[in-house]
Parts: sequence; C-alpha cells; structure tokens
Amino acid sequence: MEKSKTILITRQYPDIGIDLLKDQGFHLKFWPMERPMTPEELVEHAQDCDAVLCTLTEKIDKTFLDRSSHLDMISQFAVGFDNIDVDHATRLGIPVGYTPDVMTEATTDIAFGLMIATARKMVFNHKKILRGEWGSFTPKDHLGMELMGKTLGIFGMGRIGMKMSLRCRGAYDMDILYCSRNPYPEAEERLNARRVDFHQLLAQSDVVSAHCPLTPETRGIFNGEAFSRMKSSAIFINTARGPVHNEPELIRALESGEIWGAGLDVTDPEPMDRDNPLLSMENVCVLPHIGSATQEARDGMSRRAAKNIIEFYRTGSMPHMVNPQVLEK
Ligand code: GLV
Repeated sequence: MEKSKTILITRQYPDIGIDLLKDQGFHLKFWPMERPMTPEELVEHAQDCDAVLCTLTEKIDKTFLDRSSHLDMISQFAVGFDNIDVDHATRLGIPVGYTPDVMTEATTDIAFGLMIATARKMVFNHKKILRGEWGSFTPKDHLGMELMGKTLGIFGMGRIGMKMSLRCRGAYDMDILYCSRNPYPEAEERLNARRVDFHQLLAQSDVVSAHCPLTPETRGIFNGEAFSRMKSSAIFINTARGPVHNEPELIRALESGEIWGAGLDVTDPEPMDRDNPLLSMENVCVLPHIGSATQEARDGMSRRAAKNIIEFYRTGSMPHMVNPQVLEK
C-alpha cells in the first residue's frame, strides 16, 4: 500500500481478523462503545476513513452512501446484507464484501435446535421451573409432537437449507420439499428432495423453515394468508430475517390455532419487546438472533471480512463480493 489506508471498525469483532488487518499495516479506527453507532455517528466517523468494516447493526442506506461516496469499499461482517443499499453502492461504484459459508453449520444448528425445542415446548417448560411450577408428573398436559418421518419444507434452498435438510433426514428420516428460485440438484440427488411451489410447500409441510435472503420478494411472504394455508399442526421456523414473516399476522395465526408453533431466531423488529405475546406462548421459542454466534463461525466471519479488505487493496478485487459488477465499470 502506497499510503496506509484507514478502516472504520464499527463494532468489536473477533481479534483474528483485526490482527490480520494490523499485520498488513492498515490504520484502524475503532468505535469504542458496546452499542452500535447512530446513523449520524456512522456518517461522521466514516468521513476520514477509506473503508468500513460493518455489520447488520449499521444502516448503510442511501443517505449514508451519498454522504460517504469517498469510500473505496465496504466489508460486511455477515452473510446477509439487507442493511446495505447494494444497488446504490453499485451506482456509486463502491464494492461491497460479505462473509458467506463460514456460519452455515452454526446457523443450521439454531434452525434444527429451534425445531426440536418448539416441538417439545422446551422453553415453556424451562420457564415453568423458573417460576417454581415444576409440579408433579402429568400424563396429559403440555404434550409436544414427534418429528420422526415428518415432512420438512425449506423456503430458500441454499447452503443452510441444504444442511438443515441433511440434519432432518439423518435424525428424523424426514421427507424434504423445497421452494426456491432455482433448482438445487444436490438436494434432489442426495435427499430425493422435491421442488414445489410456495402453496404446495405450505400445504404439505409439517415444518416450514425459512432460509432465504430478505429481498422485496421475500419481505412479509409469511403473512396471514400463508399461515392459513399451512397445516394446523405445522411449525414455522425462521432463522433468516425477521421481516420475512409478518409478525402481527404470525401472532394471530398462533393464537387462532392456524399453525401449531414457531421457532424464531429473528424477529421484526429486533430487539423484540419483552412483553411481546410470542414470548409467553407455550409452542413458541424465540432466540435473540444468535444464528452465527459460535466461536468458529464468528472467527471465520472476522477472517473473511478482513481478507476482503486486504485482497481488495492488494488486487482490486475480493474473494467474497456482493456486487462484482462494480469492478466491470
Ligand atoms: C447473520 O444474520 C448474518 O447474516 O450473517
């Protein structure tokens, strides 16, 4: 590098990637607080920086981008990037990196875990103990459901959907349906998975698990109408993005018994209010967006986000880029 580049580090990311950047001689400008920056703070702190290492908590929208069009690149620490207006970054010629693959196992475990925890009312039963209501063994109360031989419906078959399908087939011999923009031959060859349309997925699945990105097409796709098409015994799992489901309509579908249960690692909004009715429902498990929260995944994300910056300044390109068309301009 002719002159040391300054990178704005928006949160406290695992050392592994930060050390890589330091070793390469980058000047790092850290945001020292635990809380994310406000949009104004983000603009202000990016002014004297060449690039930004950011994540879901930073709103990289049109306003930010217009005021920060001097940036050489943006490196996102996440596989999802719906916090970034990628189209506008592309118009401004700003390349955007992201960190796919490395959190696939971790996120799949959360989807798989939520499915079991919901089916067996684990969170509800744990809360009973905390309230001193263990009581006695009851043969008929609070019964869950078994997953063996059931049908899994994957909405958005990709890396995580494939791993979820493998886990569900291996553990419970589940049949696999999927609804996706494109066919996924690996799922069809290895698991005999069948590609179906959205309505068939809803009508035929015992567990519907969302693994799609948040886009204008998927925003709110799991709405009241969708839930009304699902089996009344079905479980809805969302580890993708909260706005993929319509939360008030999900609550209504659970209250009216249109669906049986829900396991959510993502909500809309995040964080969820502590008095949200979902938190007191027997057949619902909610987690605070921890899909990628393993040491392995977060280290991998940190390394990948750092490598995107290092490679960009070394070669003009990066290994994991959201908008490669920028480089063709
Ligand atoms: C987490 O939600 C991610 O997109 O990496």
